[in-house]
Amino acid sequence: MTDTTPRYTGPERVLSGVQPTGRLHLGNYLGALKKFAALQDQGRECLYCVVNMHAMTMPHDPKELVATTRSIAAAYMAAGVDPNKSAIFAQSSVPEHAELAWVLNCVGRMGWLERMTQFKDKAGKDAERASVGLFTYPVLMAADILIYKATHVPVGDDQKQHLELARDIAARFNRDFYKDEIFFPQPDPLIEGPGARVMSLKDGTKKMSKSDPSDLSRLNLEDDADTIAKKIKKAKSDADVLPETAEGLNDRPEARNLVGIYAALNNQSVDEVLAEFGGQGFGVFKPKLADVAVEFFGDVSARYRELRDDQGTIDAVLKQGAEKAREIATPVMDEVRDLVGYWRAS
Ligand code: TRP
Repeated sequence: MTDTTPRYTGPERVLSGVQPTGRLHLGNYLGALKKFAALQDQGRECLYCVVNMHAMTMPHDPKELVATTRSIAAAYMAAGVDPNKSAIFAQSSVPEHAELAWVLNCVGRMGWLERMTQFKDKAGKDAERASVGLFTYPVLMAADILIYKATHVPVGDDQKQHLELARDIAARFNRDFYKDEIFFPQPDPLIEGPGARVMSLKDGTKKMSKSDPSDLSRLNLEDDADTIAKKIKKAKSDADVLPETAEGLNDRPEARNLVGIYAALNNQSVDEVLAEFGGQGFGVFKPKLADVAVEFFGDVSARYRELRDDQGTIDAVLKQGAEKAREIATPVMDEVRDLVGYWRAS
């Protein structure tokens, strides 16, 4: 039987976004930023957005939002995203995101959004008091992706459900307004790989988080080399030697986390790391991990601290990125306006 499913024939395009809330840490670096740079270096067209409009879905301080928006742009660059290859921009500076979000609000269904676990987690018990924006957050995220007809979206594990929603919205739009042909492609999440899930340095069963009260639980993007080394040395481990293969890490969350961090930073597989360190204890492994962390993450953090203070450069990058992004977004939005029947002067 021949497959008659229409296939998307447009260009491959990568889009992702990071919220400018709070400080970034090793988990954000390995789970997102480092992958953003790698995708760019594979020669793909990449757009990396600072999703400042999403940051308004929870109470926020306007002054702080401007500053954190710039600091995320600095973090992208520190991690190796090159503003001359990839677009680095603020979501709010491309108004087509918001405009498409309205259209998609009318495509998505209440029932789809009511299933979103992130809303339930963030709204907590008093969901009646949550902002409407928090509820439609995933629709704006779908607009971020679809306004560029992005085909690949590097995200953390926790965003998988939102990506599925974006796919459902794309399909429904195509069905309702494009005769079931492909106007919006189905965006594919890119989730796997070493570093996809970095856990707390103090509890290998909890994700590394900016809201953990213990600063020793994470490596912050702004930590200097000494702090990084100190935190690795104080990280929780266990009394056993490291196993020879990855299966041996199964019931050892702290050991698994530290080996995973080493592998991700050093661009190795977990098995390669264990081939080197299997049979050794943490007395040997931790100093090596500290060296690797200082060499790779310390390098990013030094660049970050330098760039963060260079507002002129950051603003120029954000401006250039917005122009690049709008070149793609404008014609797509024009087509959407026609497809949904917006009036325009003839
Ligand atoms: N919701 C994402 C997060 O919290 C951030 C985000 C917003 C995003 N828009 C996006 C990620 C579009 C990928 C693509 O991590």
